[in-house]
Amino acid sequence: MNLQEIREERQKWMTWKNIAPLREAIEKLPNIDTKVELGDVVALACKDEVDADLIENTARMMMPWRKGPFNLFGLFIDTEWKSNIKYNLLRPHFNLKDKKVADIGCNNGYYLFRMQEDAPKKLVGFDPSSLYKTQFDFINHFAKTEIVYELLGVEHLPFYEEKFDLIFCLGVLYHRSDPVSMLKELYKGLENKGEVILDTFYIEGEEEIALTPKESYSKIPNIYFVPTISALKNWCMRAGFASFEILETSLTSQDEQRKTEWIEGQSLEDFLDPDDSSKTIEGYPSPRRVYVKLIKERNGKK
Ligand SMILES: C[S@@+](CC[C@H](N)C(=O)[O-])C[C@H]1O[C@@H](n2cnc3c(N)ncnc32)[C@H](O)[C@@H]1O
Repeated sequence: MNLQEIREERQKWMTWKNIAPLREAIEKLPNIDTKVELGDVVALACKDEVDADLIENTARMMMPWRKGPFNLFGLFIDTEWKSNIKYNLLRPHFNLKDKKVADIGCNNGYYLFRMQEDAPKKLVGFDPSSLYKTQFDFINHFAKTEIVYELLGVEHLPFYEEKFDLIFCLGVLYHRSDPVSMLKELYKGLENKGEVILDTFYIEGEEEIALTPKESYSKIPNIYFVPTISALKNWCMRAGFASFEILETSLTSQDEQRKTEWIEGQSLEDFLDPDDSSKTIEGYPSPRRVYVKLIKERNGKK
């Protein structure tokens, strides 16, 4: 299938019985002259009266809200993740002015909305989730940005119609069963002097090894490999990148990820060992993240 056929096929996901009512709700939303305020909270504001019940009921239909926070005309969506913490940690390491930028695994687009503050040439989000795209469409119905949201995955980057100057790929690598292939896909999605900003879970240690969780890691079933930083570097070099730079490391705290009224089910506090928060419930080292910058070519050369 070519990209256009994949897009058409995936458009049909919007008719699934859990998604179709959400799409109808978006179509019924009024047009409101909206101002978008970009800060830790991505906020929609307007001078006119807004039907607060309509906004809240529509937002609640779209739960769970993982990434944010947002404020929709006074309604605070206190998402499971305070994504502003990750964004602010990375903020000193990039400038998007006039760049073609992709966010792979963009979820509901929280980072993309914030990235507009840099005046990039183009912003494209990739995420194969019909629910998260619907959350994005809900906000963007009012925000009316030029962000392009593709219901595509990282695996489509090598044959995407354009290449990017900067690709963000945050929190996706550990979900892939073949991480080196995924890194090659990112590589192929870049312009020659392009860069990737990536984060992933890591384990401490000097050895070039990776943890391979038996069934789940931190109760997340689809986590395949959690490398040491040196193993991660090896993966990136094998994928062809010319340079690997560690930007930051962090330990996820219950301030950053916690249960709120905008998600059903559990959050970080339930994923860690109740007697020893340095371990996950499965007994593995608790989630640490490393943030790296990868450069495709140095001075146009590998
Ligand atoms: C752990 S979340 C990370 C979200 C966000 N990038 C962040 O760092 O906060 C993983 C995201 O990857 C998306 N995803 C799943 N499969 C994917 C794929 N094949 N390609 C790109 N993204 C994918 C999920 O829908 C989800 O939004």
